[in-house]
Amino acid sequence: MKRNVLVTGATRGIGQAIATKFRQEGWYVIGTGVQDREKPDYLDRYLVCDLADRLHIEMLLVNLKEEDISTVVNNAGINIVNNFLDIKPEDFEKVNSVNLFAPFRVSQGLLPFMVNQGWGRVVNISSVWGKISKQGRASYSASKFGIDGLTLSMANEFASQGILCNCVAPGFIDTEMTWNNLGVEGVAKMLENVPIKRLAKVNEVADLVYMLGSEHNTYISGQNIAIDGGFTRA
Ligand code: NAI
Repeated sequence: MKRNVLVTGATRGIGQAIATKFRQEGWYVIGTGVQDREKPDYLDRYLVCDLADRLHIEMLLVNLKEEDISTVVNNAGINIVNNFLDIKPEDFEKVNSVNLFAPFRVSQGLLPFMVNQGWGRVVNISSVWGKISKQGRASYSASKFGIDGLTLSMANEFASQGILCNCVAPGFIDTEMTWNNLGVEGVAKMLENVPIKRLAKVNEVADLVYMLGSEHNTYISGQNIAIDGGFTRA
């Protein structure tokens, strides 16, 4: 099997850690980001793609036509927090475009090669807010619960063809997104409810994604695995 992986949203945070991990393990790594910039040195190829834009997604798939992708990690994600009655329809749509439609369409575009090869792995990055929810997270939770359903259906459809599809649901990770959403006080307050009492490091998430997205995963299919320090089970 070809050891080629696509990681969306690979320019920072969790995506950067996932791309770095696959590269360290000897894979050919293609990463996407929204900015026109030089290729980061932990990637073999960098492609610009605004996943909120359907035309960009189609262009991305054209660019990936010859790349023989065995594993796709749908990592790029956005969160626009707002109380339910204040959510702008365009914000709801944007969050669901990037977090749910894009993983659907990117996976659909890349699956035919995996089917031909008889081996493939899809890892979709969800969230603890795709297992439970709270005030202000309606757009985000809708997209992240949605990706669980998408993954489960794909897992059932493709497992017999050697393609294993799973979600990873990170809890509170030491990234820009967490600090922007919660602030310093918010992080301290939130950690009171996390049995492990610290944020996760991005490489802890990357190790789990690598396990699920590589030849190490031979029998895990259709799961939504939380990596949350025990938060959703406390
Ligand atoms: P981040 O904000 O640090 O990075 C997000 C990545 O997605 C960047 O590479 C960015 O370029 C890309 N991206 C953003 N908007 C995009 C768009 N319209 N089109 C294409 N790419 C776009 O995010 P982080 O924190 O690394 O999150 C990665 C994934 O993990 C997301 O799916 C997020 O929902 C999920 N997650 C993050 C948690 C956290 O604590 N940071 C917790 C739970 C889930």
